[in-house]
Amino acid sequence: SAAVRVALLGCGTVGTEVVRLITGQADDLTARVGAPVELAGVAVRRPHKHPWLTENFGDLVTTDAGELVTRDDVDVVVEVIGGIEPVRGWLLEALKSGKSVVTANKALLAEDGPTLAEAADASGADLYYEAAVAGAIPLLRPLRESLAGDRITRVAGIVNGTSNFILSAMSAGGTSYADALEEATRLGYAEADPSADVDGYDAAAKAAILATLAFHTRITASDVHREGMREVSSADVAAARRLGCTIKLLAICERVVDASGAESVSSRVYPAMVPDTHPLAGVDGAFNAVFVEAEAAGQLMFYGQGAGGAPTASAVLGDLVAVARNRVGGGRGPRESAYASLPVRPIGEV
Ligand code: NDP
Ligand code: HSE
Repeated sequence: SAAVRVALLGCGTVGTEVVRLITGQADDLTARVGAPVELAGVAVRRPHKHPWLTENFGDLVTTDAGELVTRDDVDVVVEVIGGIEPVRGWLLEALKSGKSVVTANKALLAEDGPTLAEAADASGADLYYEAAVAGAIPLLRPLRESLAGDRITRVAGIVNGTSNFILSAMSAGGTSYADALEEATRLGYAEADPSADVDGYDAAAKAAILATLAFHTRITASDVHREGMREVSSADVAAARRLGCTIKLLAICERVVDASGAESVSSRVYPAMVPDTHPLAGVDGAFNAVFVEAEAAGQLMFYGQGAGGAPTASAVLGDLVAVARNRVGGGRGPRESAYASLPVRPIGEV
């Protein structure tokens, strides 16, 4: 079959590892997809900051992401830039012209995911975003596909690696909040603006994506009650320890039924005291863990590396293989535009 041609938008912490995986295992990818998977171009903002990229793939590098996504020789757009604008316009343009999109951009998905999904459905393109929540952990595909025949009642866990890394370091003792945040940034876990991590915006975006998929309704980040962990002090962490607890930043999304039988969705992010006997208490560093409860399946636990270049690139590549296989075999991923209208429980009412 003809090669599947990929435009990569962004080549930072995640994008660099995506390039390594696409180019380093080209033969394996060809075998798994049934056609070669080739880079058609790589968009960055400041090429001079990317000596490895320009030395090895200089002919592919561009600073014009907008032009790259419209090129006729591009089949799939992989977006690892982040932020809402100008990325939203580029991805909509790609989807409208039938190009499939793989993205790790939780901020955009939590703000306007349904518009992207509708554009994908209208043109028959695929929209995959496993890397947007919980890094390497396969979580969205199970919610979108494996559990699609069940009724999910609750999704809850640790979905931000940076804040968990900081809380774990503070809990172990000897490391200040500031030093731990600096280390998380150095290791590539933190967002471009780390207040997204420590103030809970990143976890709230992920909660919105999880609730949207789990409950087949539209939840945006602004529907999620949000408290960050910036205010958690070493004294708080020590006090929790004395009570046999560990402080964790949790994201909780629940299907709520009131006394009249009316259903709604409650989504919230806040630092919580987790008893040391609970499995979430032992989730340390940049690891994430999410419990899913469904009526027929019962309880499921998903655990693994929630942030970092290589783990996130693993999830991106899994999506890339899925959409490339669909290109070659003529299939499509699940449609998402048929949303039910489950009311959102007002913020603060939990
Ligand atoms: P980085 O900041 O490391 O990389 C961003 C890349 O985007 C850089 O290469 C930058 O280019 C490029 N870029 C920025 N603006 C433009 C533009 N206008 N045109 C072209 N290129 C541009 O981010 P990460 O790799 O850490 O994250 C990327 C995405 O993945 C984000 O959405 C993030 O939320 C998500 N994510 C990140 C995870 C992680 O652990 N890091 C985990 C899961 C998801 P230049 O370097 O030249 O400025
Ligand atoms: N900044 C994010 C985190 C990256 O720390 O979890 C993974 O989404």
